[in-house]
Amino acid sequence: MRREAVRGDDTRATLRRYLTENGISLKTLNDQTDKNVDIGKLYDQNIAGTYDQDRLGLLSGGREMAVQQFKAQIAQSGVREVLDLAVGTGESLLKVHGLFPAANMHGIDLSSEMLEIAKAKLPFNPIHDDVAHARQHFPPACMDLMLMHFLTTFVDGNEVVQDTAKLLRSGGYYSIVSTTYEAFPRIHELSRMVLSDDFIKQASPAPMNIEVVASYLSNAGLEIVAQGTFAKSVKFFDFNEFYRFGMDSGFFTHILVQMDRAQIEQAGRMPNVFPLEDQYKAAVVLARKP
Ligand SMILES: C[S@@+](CC[C@H](N)C(=O)[O-])C[C@H]1O[C@@H](n2cnc3c(N)ncnc32)[C@H](O)[C@@H]1O
Repeated sequence: MRREAVRGDDTRATLRRYLTENGISLKTLNDQTDKNVDIGKLYDQNIAGTYDQDRLGLLSGGREMAVQQFKAQIAQSGVREVLDLAVGTGESLLKVHGLFPAANMHGIDLSSEMLEIAKAKLPFNPIHDDVAHARQHFPPACMDLMLMHFLTTFVDGNEVVQDTAKLLRSGGYYSIVSTTYEAFPRIHELSRMVLSDDFIKQASPAPMNIEVVASYLSNAGLEIVAQGTFAKSVKFFDFNEFYRFGMDSGFFTHILVQMDRAQIEQAGRMPNVFPLEDQYKAAVVLARKP
């Protein structure tokens, strides 16, 4: 315990000295997140082409746990209409199509490029829009299954579930897969040495833990029928490997795109950080409308 604290102090001091010596102002770092990042464009231009590589298997691992919940809980005959909120490249919807081949599939997303990739994988009704407008596209209580996979970083999960659950019929299911704030504790710890907690939370908002994710569904009047945590250890040998993963996967793109070339080069030379071992966590929750 004590040794950990001392090692943390050492790393903090080394990092701060490194940033000062390289002329990187902590104030600038703390101030610079652009609150108006256009998420649709970010996915179109920086992520869509590489998103499906899913190099560390974090996205597929979380989705697979959701599919196991569907298999255990949902009857074949009960699913005729499925809506994926933020369908992305269609990976979750493709799996649902395999489980319920007779169902009609619908998917909303802000990124036209992500939708194009999804359209090549399966037949579905693609809607290029914000999930905040989902209810304008469908009558109330018409969906048998709704998905919200890896969207909670971009929206207020509680608000979106409250609103969109009105599209679910009685007896219908709502599935959430969400990275939580507990994911990547080592990366958070390193970030907190140079960035304020507020900056980190605002730049990358995520529900704290599985209880918070489950509360989005219960606050909307749904009953939790299955829940689990997908966890996986990850290791980055150097900054380049971390940067490529962070950019290509979408996990850290919205933060990394805001670094300029000099900052990236300087971060690449940071001492005492790599190889970096960390732990990923995603909450996987299925709920039913009474
Ligand atoms: C991490 S990806 C998840 C995609 C997919 N659900 C999956 O499991 O791979 C996030 C997706 O959410 C979309 N997105 C972000 N905010 C959105 C919003 N407010 N309305 C609609 N789509 C949004 C992005 O364009 C991107 O395709």
